[in-house]
Amino acid sequence: MFKVGYFGLEPGICRFGEEVLCHEEKATCAFYDGLLMAHRIALIGGDGIGPEVTAEAVKVVRATGVAIDTTDFDLGGMRYLRDGEILSDDVLNQLRGFDAILLGAVGTPDVPPGIIERGLLLKMRFDLDLYVNQRPFVGTAPGHVTPHDFIVIRENTEGPYVGEGGVLRRGTPYEIATQGSVNTRHGVERCIRYAFELAAKRERKHVTLVHKTNVLTFAGDLWQRAFNEVAAQFPQVGTAYNHVDAACIYFVEDPHRYDVIVTDNLFGDILTDLGGAVSGGIGLASSANLNPARTGPSMFEPSHGSAPDIVGTGKANPTAAILSAALMLDFLNESAAGDRIRAACGTAPTGSTVDIGNAIAAIVAGK
Ligand code: IPM
Ligand code: MN
Repeated sequence: MFKVGYFGLEPGICRFGEEVLCHEEKATCAFYDGLLMAHRIALIGGDGIGPEVTAEAVKVVRATGVAIDTTDFDLGGMRYLRDGEILSDDVLNQLRGFDAILLGAVGTPDVPPGIIERGLLLKMRFDLDLYVNQRPFVGTAPGHVTPHDFIVIRENTEGPYVGEGGVLRRGTPYEIATQGSVNTRHGVERCIRYAFELAAKRERKHVTLVHKTNVLTFAGDLWQRAFNEVAAQFPQVGTAYNHVDAACIYFVEDPHRYDVIVTDNLFGDILTDLGGAVSGGIGLASSANLNPARTGPSMFEPSHGSAPDIVGTGKANPTAAILSAALMLDFLNESAAGDRIRAACGTAPTGSTVDIGNAIAAIVAGK
């Protein structure tokens, strides 16, 4: 029996049958020349339809021929109800050892809102420094005839999501609640820089800043100055600015104007739901939570929730999860496989969750 060699974050190359050292253990290369690398993927199926759609995503990734080695993590609302575990430091440290995390969906109606969101999803975003949330939108908006193709880059570790603020005299008529928005020059600039680097590689080479600089004058001013300064370093990339309310109109009426959008965490959360709605629905909306500095694994998840009402019915569309896995492959330097998945998803197969997964897997495998 050959053992498959793993080389951590860097692709390893060896010759078929060659003895190699993998994680300080001797192993024999099980692939043909120059094609050795199994990406280590942490799988968090989560709650509701999460495990169903994740299974299809893994099936499709395997159909590309890219070698992955998956490890399941039982996390989410159901796990929390069972034994109280949300995401301990120990589990978080285990996750740090993987090349990527593929997540289905978390949340169950029996757990009050905020617990799993903050304790699991946002904890991963903050603690793994997943500072870019990348959400691509390709589709034809209602009332349009040609498809649009744009990407929202949402800042993913700051803004109103940090949990700054508090409550005083709760439950009394004198209650006060504040919830601040934290914007650091470092955090804002690295996100904007990512957007420009991405745009520079795309055909249209254009970045739009979306904010509310006319009202949020402190944060907006920081964003606008950081944007202008980064833009000056990318003379080949065109720029525009839209207020977030106006952007909502353009998403519906003129989505073709956009190439790359960069925006604040909360604006990006809201805008990307609208992006999904005008691009074929939330069943197609994929997302990547990226640590572009690669100091740890990035996390890939469909934008949709756990949809407990349709669990086990076969009605969940796994395409968003499959497209999120394609984003994962892009980030693991396997974008040729990612492109094949996107092309297969473009044929828009129908049927049950498993039917759709099988159809996409078959196209990807060339069967
Ligand atoms: C998303 C979700 C999350 C967010 C929730 C579940 C915390 O809506 O990924 O867009 O607000 O970021
Ligand atoms: Mn959201």
